Amino acid sequence: MRTEIPVLDLSDLAENAPPEAVQRAADALLEAFGTYGLVFIKNHGVDRGDVEGVYDAFVDVLERPTEEKASWGGPDIWYQRGWTPPNTEQAVVAGGQPDFKECFFAVGSELDPRCKRFWPELYADNVWPDQADTFKDSTVALSQQVHGIGLRLLRGCAVALGLEEDAFTSLVEGGASLSRVLKYLELSDDQLGTGILWGEEHTDFNLLTLLPGGCFYMNGKRVATPPEGQVGLELRTRPSAAEPNGRVVPGRPPEGCIVAQVGQQFEVLTGGRFLATPHVIHAPASIGWTRTSFAHFVHLHGMVPVAPLAPFASADPEYAPPVLAGTYGIKTLIDIGLAPTSELDRLGYRHYGRLADIRAREE
Ligand SMILES: [Fe+2]
Repeated sequence: MRTEIPVLDLSDLAENAPPEAVQRAADALLEAFGTYGLVFIKNHGVDRGDVEGVYDAFVDVLERPTEEKASWGGPDIWYQRGWTPPNTEQAVVAGGQPDFKECFFAVGSELDPRCKRFWPELYADNVWPDQADTFKDSTVALSQQVHGIGLRLLRGCAVALGLEEDAFTSLVEGGASLSRVLKYLELSDDQLGTGILWGEEHTDFNLLTLLPGGCFYMNGKRVATPPEGQVGLELRTRPSAAEPNGRVVPGRPPEGCIVAQVGQQFEVLTGGRFLATPHVIHAPASIGWTRTSFAHFVHLHGMVPVAPLAPFASADPEYAPPVLAGTYGIKTLIDIGLAPTSELDRLGYRHYGRLADIRAREE
């Protein structure tokens, strides 16, 4: 087995790419997403200066008073737009340990208005701070650019798996794909050495996650050299007979590459051919460090069943029963502490009371 995460040349997925390039991309994607759940991408066209521009604007916006930040989104829309305060979200296996981060969510594309009626929180309108045009414009532009890369990857994955080229992209249009700008917070002195993490191990619940690369800061100043030691993204490979727990490998990309990783929806659609990547974010072993990061989450359209596609139907029992992607979102947001558990009571038929009222009037 290879021991290195493949690097995909995005130009191999260009329209009119020669057959040998298409084959090279397919080999890289099958190995990367099949074994690691993650691929490094070069020649992606994302300008590092643009990414840092988003972070600069984001860090500025985070300086605003907490009361103002709390007015951007909030619990009514399950924090799906605007600001998420520190210590709000928690990974399913975190054992009650919230993540040390504050984030901002926004969508960069048109959402299906019908989905908005069914899942108003997941399909909420963007919420922007006042007088933050640079933050808004740079975030939306990066979101759209990275989404385009995601679509190219999805077409490449479909071809690699022997499916129609639009097998995945046709399931995404109008869905609530969204971007998150995030700041991992500084640890206090007494948290050092306690095994505390910036992000507990988890798998993403969407289809595909794209990470154009983060920045480290020491005492608030951006620094080019990351802290020493085991810091940042680490992932777990597919379990095998030889390695039943998988193998933990660093996820830091080669210089200039960006990262894409497999989410739960992709695992289900491919019947496990691609495996959702368990990943963890390690915090530095010294104080003073913070980190910004940008993640774009490509989601299925809310009305798409999260079930293996026909060629992978032999995996149905493992992923039964199917639910619509929008409803899958509700369940996950409950699991990670962002939506109230009472939402589960709203699933299914809600009009039994009508007949009860009629019968009551007849008595
Ligand atoms: Fe994640």
